[in-house]
Amino acid sequence: MNYLTIALAKGRLARTAIDMFADAGVACAGLNEKSRKLIFHNEETGCRFFLAKADDVPTYVEYGAADIGVAGADTLMEEGRSLYEALDLGFGRCRMVVAGPPAMRDKMYHINNIRVSTRYPNIAMNHFYNIRRQTAEIIKLNGSVELGPIVGLSDVIVDLVETGSTLKENGLVVLEDVCNISAMLVVNRVSMKMEYERITGIIQLLKERRGPL
Ligand code: PRP
Repeated sequence: MNYLTIALAKGRLARTAIDMFADAGVACAGLNEKSRKLIFHNEETGCRFFLAKADDVPTYVEYGAADIGVAGADTLMEEGRSLYEALDLGFGRCRMVVAGPPAMRDKMYHINNIRVSTRYPNIAMNHFYNIRRQTAEIIKLNGSVELGPIVGLSDVIVDLVETGSTLKENGLVVLEDVCNISAMLVVNRVSMKMEYERITGIIQLLKERRGPL
């Protein structure tokens, strides 16, 4: 069977994405984060799903190993791959911000080569160099980025804020907005042409089910 392959980002977005596809009639029994089985086929719908590390979803889709992917706009921007961005799915909303200690509010604009720790070096680099026109030393971390300014690794961070509680509990504040983020549906450029009807059919069903933007 010529399965349509759908890659979903593990983590915060997975549950809602799985439910949204199921709601749109493209359910996939067995697909959940706890399973060690990696790929699930549904012969009725002709779709197969897999869960991948969020950062890898754009890679699978660009190479055509997945026809469709669901990942956060943060991951897509950071990876910068050539994909067809088909639909804002309207969930997983949060903000990408520059954050740091309150004392940085006035100070950050005057620091030469400001140190920025982040999981998103490309986004941070673009923000500081191209948007702010400020030289910066970007330090890549893989999580718990809020530690950066607390332990003296960096002056500020570029990271996601959802409820704001991680910043608050660590005595940090938002200094500047970078952009808004939500879950996106992306499609391989060739698949979009070859499987146009099947894919646009799914996009339409998802569009009808997403929340207000
Ligand atoms: C994300 C992000 C922040 C936090 C923001 O981290 O990097 O640390 O969530 O959410 P909040 O505003 O609701 O507190 P995540 O929990 O994904 O894990 P990580 O710290 O290991 O990156």
